[in-house]
Amino acid sequence: MRALPVLQPARSARPLAAPSTPPRAVRLSLTDRCDLACIYCRPHKHDGYLERRLSTDEWRVLVHGLVGAGVRRVRITGGEPLLFPGVVDFVAAIADLGLEDLAITTNATRLERLAAPLRAAGLHRINVSLDTLDSQRFFRITRGGNLAQVLRGIDAAVAAGFDPIKLNTVVVRGENDDEVEAIARFAWERGLVPRFLEVMPIGDGQTLSDRMVPFSEIRARLEHLLEPVDPAREADRGPARYVARRGHAHQRVGFITGTTDTFCRGCDRLRVASDGTLRPCLATNDGVSPTLALARRDADLVTDAVHAAWEMKPDGEVWKGCTEETAREVSIRQIGG
Ligand code: GTP
Ligand code: 5AD
Repeated sequence: MRALPVLQPARSARPLAAPSTPPRAVRLSLTDRCDLACIYCRPHKHDGYLERRLSTDEWRVLVHGLVGAGVRRVRITGGEPLLFPGVVDFVAAIADLGLEDLAITTNATRLERLAAPLRAAGLHRINVSLDTLDSQRFFRITRGGNLAQVLRGIDAAVAAGFDPIKLNTVVVRGENDDEVEAIARFAWERGLVPRFLEVMPIGDGQTLSDRMVPFSEIRARLEHLLEPVDPAREADRGPARYVARRGHAHQRVGFITGTTDTFCRGCDRLRVASDGTLRPCLATNDGVSPTLALARRDADLVTDAVHAAWEMKPDGEVWKGCTEETAREVSIRQIGG
């Protein structure tokens, strides 16, 4: 292996796994900019952005290096990825690589205009963050967001033919926990997949720890609508576990239990921050910066850096993800969830 610019070696004595399988999935934080400031994510809209931003050319080299290291599934995140000026061209360039999965997670504020172009560019799937159906609540939770604009974005994604479209609802006690059933019904009526997330004590999420609604309680609110079965994961997807709606085999609800039941075993995800840092785990700031590889536009050198980052991945058998102390220092906005 060539000499590597490993800029941030693992700082703590956490157990490392040196996983035998390569990373299969990557979350690319295309930009750390976001036009909202959700209460579980960041303190306000002026909490400081990363100075370095990759050019589209650097992103292209990075993605080639990732694919060379075994990555087959790509999710584009943010910040808010649709704020990235060249997002449609970027999707088109990645779509040409013939990946198994190419998805985006968005707050949908810009989806009304971009849904159709993204579909035409080759995007496979969209997940949308939506925490409430009440416009005043939406304004408060997002610190200024416009619900109507987001709902138009969701309608545009449906009209463009995306399927599945998943909704992410972070459930916060006293804020939106009384809307779980209404949001599930809203989603099913439109052919969307509702998913409910426990607040994770990561970044500003830790300020809401005492308002975290556990999976057991969220499920209890929906029990009369669901099949009486254990939730099950989808193959080759993220950590959500799903239960079918009673009597409607094709309608599901998902649960993401980052706090009461961490799900690190078998994690095959790597993350890339918008400055290019390769990060092996959501719950630490550790990572490898492929600076030299990008300066030389050398995808093979990126692949080496990916291997180095992957060696830093915590052991999923003992590591407890976002409940670890290190997660408090992580900006979920910067790393895209
Ligand atoms: P699918 O491929 O559709 O399953 O997507 P996904 O659920 O992986 O992606 P999305 O961006 O919609 O993420 C939903 C939530 O899952 C976000 O809050 C993420 O932070 C969280 N999440 C994704 N991967 C991990 C992980 O490795 N650890 C933890 N703790 N949370 C994760
Ligand atoms: N806890 C749980 N989910 C979070 N997200 C952001 N911050 C948190 C947190 N503290 C979710 C958003 C978005 C996804 C990318 O991450 O709702 O859907």
